[in-house]
Amino acid sequence: MDEMKKRAAHKAVEYVKDGMVLGLGTGSTTKYAIEEIGRLVSEGYELIGVPTSLETERQARSLNIPISTLEKVKRLDLTIDGADEVDPQFQLIKGLGGALLREKIIAYHSDLEIIIVDHSKIVDKLGIKTPLPVEVVPFSHGRTKEAIEELGCKATLRGESGPFITDNGNYIYDCKFDGIDNAKMLELKLDSIPGVVENGLFLEMSSHIVIGTKDGVEIRERTDQDC
Ligand code: 5RP
Repeated sequence: MDEMKKRAAHKAVEYVKDGMVLGLGTGSTTKYAIEEIGRLVSEGYELIGVPTSLETERQARSLNIPISTLEKVKRLDLTIDGADEVDPQFQLIKGLGGALLREKIIAYHSDLEIIIVDHSKIVDKLGIKTPLPVEVVPFSHGRTKEAIEELGCKATLRGESGPFITDNGNYIYDCKFDGIDNAKMLELKLDSIPGVVENGLFLEMSSHIVIGTKDGVEIRERTDQDC
């Protein structure tokens, strides 16, 4: 599995050009891409990275990748990030790693969003295998959970010995649906619940999906017809 993740990550880094401002995703697949970006920096590429999590920021700093913020750079040339599920319409579930809010903000402000996955993440329909992570503010989160469950899922607060706290000080509910039929509608409904900060549906955000397989990599490039 790690080899497939690495293949996808290395292929995605071929899109990086000298001088780019990069969004740096989060997760075990993106980690390989950041290692490669660190190698480019050590070879003299002038790159700036905007991390999607504190964990990614630590890795980038350890590789001497210059770090900035979205406030300073305003726009990103390219973001490389992972995903938990990818459907045939380039729709994603993200956030099992807990960084969905910053990842979504970064994706929104990126000219290109390249998603790197191993082939186990490719699904026909979102939400059958994976729960949908939803980030909520701690205030009255039990009531927020009830409102989310009215949308047809079982919501479980993430965390074992206490709630998992995101980099933004929030909680995450992992919401198990029996498959998601209309992701756009679900996103609208989730966004209308007070207390919900963000959800892990990334729709019409990724330009490329790079899939690591046993034998190599497959690249899917989104056209307008895929939306
Ligand atoms: C973090 C994410 C990750 O990109 C996603 O969970 C995939 O992670 P991994 O590459 O470790 O499978 O969305 O919030």
